[in-house]
Amino acid sequence: MVKTIALFGATGRTGQHFLNIALEAGFSVKALVRNPAKLNVSHSQLSVLKGDVLNRRDVEETVSGTDLVVSLFGHVKGSPKWLQTDGTRHIVEAMKTCKVKRIISLSGGGLPYPEKDQPKLADKLIRSIMKLLVPHILEDAKHHHEVLAESNTIWTIVRAPRLTNAKRQGFYRVGWVGENASTKISRADLADFILNQIKDETYSYQMPFVSG
Ligand SMILES: NC(=O)c1ccc[n+]([C@@H]2O[C@H](COP(=O)([O-])OP(=O)(O)OC[C@H]3O[C@@H](n4cnc5c(N)ncnc54)[C@H](OP(=O)(O)O)[C@@H]3O)[C@@H](O)[C@H]2O)c1
Repeated sequence: MVKTIALFGATGRTGQHFLNIALEAGFSVKALVRNPAKLNVSHSQLSVLKGDVLNRRDVEETVSGTDLVVSLFGHVKGSPKWLQTDGTRHIVEAMKTCKVKRIISLSGGGLPYPEKDQPKLADKLIRSIMKLLVPHILEDAKHHHEVLAESNTIWTIVRAPRLTNAKRQGFYRVGWVGENASTKISRADLADFILNQIKDETYSYQMPFVSG
């Protein structure tokens, strides 16, 4: 049973929603953040570690003693090209050392899942635009998937379309790109779906696309 979550990206816009609802749901959280001052939460079940996902030791310290990893970190201004790949590699290595089996990681609909996706014209257009505008982020997302697929972890990659700051509506579709999908989701609803995956292992080794 999951009691303690190792959380990466807690200061991010999705991460902050996730942190709040995870604590509300009774989980303990160990969060690795670069700048603890950015977190406006203090809670007896929250332990905050200052560090960087690109630092192997920081990652191992965060994963140690936890039951599951939730990885919501991602590219910000000035991030290195292989941020998600390298950070995820550190996480899976730490999981192996610390005997933590499951990880839920966040990515976008630009990450293809040919086994299930049925991209429509609009999806193909969005992917083409992303390839033009942020090719390095797409490449990084694909490599991060490879790192997880080659690991011995039980992984789920939650993919989302455009993220908004709208209020939680408590409803979302779960499908694949082009199937049972829309073009946006609020970060609050996305965090809710990610939290639900802790108890629901339906999407292990899969990449569901969740949208509003
Ligand atoms: N934006 C979209 O429309 C969209 C669409 C689909 C999917 N996604 C996916 O969703 C993810 C989350 O989106 P968001 O808007 O919630 O993200 P966000 O607000 O930009 O947050 C990114 C998080 O990553 C952390 N981070 C970056 N580099 C780090 C490092 N080296 N070590 C530790 N933490 C680091 C940031 O920490 P700091 O606070 O220290 O910078 C921050 O907590 C994205 O990264 C992307 O993969 C986004």
